[in-house]
Amino acid sequence: MTMDKAEKIILTGDRPTGRLHVGHYVGSLRRRVELQDSGEYKKTYIMIADAQALTDNIENPEKVRQNIIEVALDYISSGLDPEKSTLFIQSQIPELCELTFYYMDLVTVARLQRNPTVKNEIQMRNFEASIPVGFFTYPISQASDITAFKATTVPVGEDQLPMLEQAREIVHKFNTVYAPVLVEPSALLPDNDACRRLPGTDGKAKMRKSLGNCIYLADSPDEVKNKIMSMFTDPLHLQVSDPGHLEGNTVFTYLDAFCRKEHFERYLPDYSDLDELKAHYQRGGLGDVKVKKFLNNIMQETLEPIRARRKELEKDIPSVYEVLRKGSEAAREVAAQTLSEVKSAMKINYFEDAELIRMQSEKYDPGKIR
Ligand code: TRP
Repeated sequence: MTMDKAEKIILTGDRPTGRLHVGHYVGSLRRRVELQDSGEYKKTYIMIADAQALTDNIENPEKVRQNIIEVALDYISSGLDPEKSTLFIQSQIPELCELTFYYMDLVTVARLQRNPTVKNEIQMRNFEASIPVGFFTYPISQASDITAFKATTVPVGEDQLPMLEQAREIVHKFNTVYAPVLVEPSALLPDNDACRRLPGTDGKAKMRKSLGNCIYLADSPDEVKNKIMSMFTDPLHLQVSDPGHLEGNTVFTYLDAFCRKEHFERYLPDYSDLDELKAHYQRGGLGDVKVKKFLNNIMQETLEPIRARRKELEKDIPSVYEVLRKGSEAAREVAAQTLSEVKSAMKINYFEDAELIRMQSEKYDPGKIR
């Protein structure tokens, strides 16, 4: 199905549980900025999902509260522009709760239990029998986030695909049972595998704050450099002359995600592109340090403007909160409009339904003409 600009709307968001890292950047932030600037979309909504973060951080409200500003700073310094995108905070839109409450009637417990993300996270967090209901039902709340804005396009990581699937099912069910007021969203995934799953600097599959294997957007140049120079590479590549392996080699995965052809001209003119560099590494004769230095140059070049913008924004924190307040106000109006359509479709808009009141009157007083 092709749509023109008038119809395409983006919504996406992040849980404010920590500063954003380079995995967020290549996995979604960079793309969001391109989409925002592409002129292809009528609206772009970027949500800080604090209410969702609370579903599994109930003992940690302060963490969530503190990280709202961190995420907002990371957003704006990465290039999300409040003039072009609506940046808002989930908990400030009560309409989302109302939608969630009604959508809950459209989803079975068994279906939620089958949601692979929920299943996974229940295992990871050892929730087992003590899953908070709010956590268990967060896919439904996420469907509200998406549908409240009639989003057509949801740029996310691949771990979020089950959420999108569930949202589409809810939309389909709602539109079939009541009336076609909701829009079916599609996911927009990062363009290459490296971007899709950028590993931690230790080579572990996921970047996690608790593993200390993240490079943050706000890290200083020295922090970035130290993390890169100690990155996991190929344990069999002991001497420069040894043939090296690319599989599971974190430095090369990062190059896949960050490196562009022009970086070679600037920082490593002996090679014309990444394929050539990889071939040399595999043949042997190319040391890790040289590749890491190259990666460091690229990452510093990429992160420098983000860092500089962040420094500027940090000087005026109240105005960043103001951006979020205004964004939340604007978002709320849109969500309220959708909620009103939802309630009409469900016929729970009694006081706006003159026909209902007339019919009920007639039922009790058939002779009377009104
Ligand atoms: N679940 C998402 C994450 O953990 C955050 C999120 C909440 C979201 N609501 C959303 C993403 C709606 C896309 C659309 O990253």
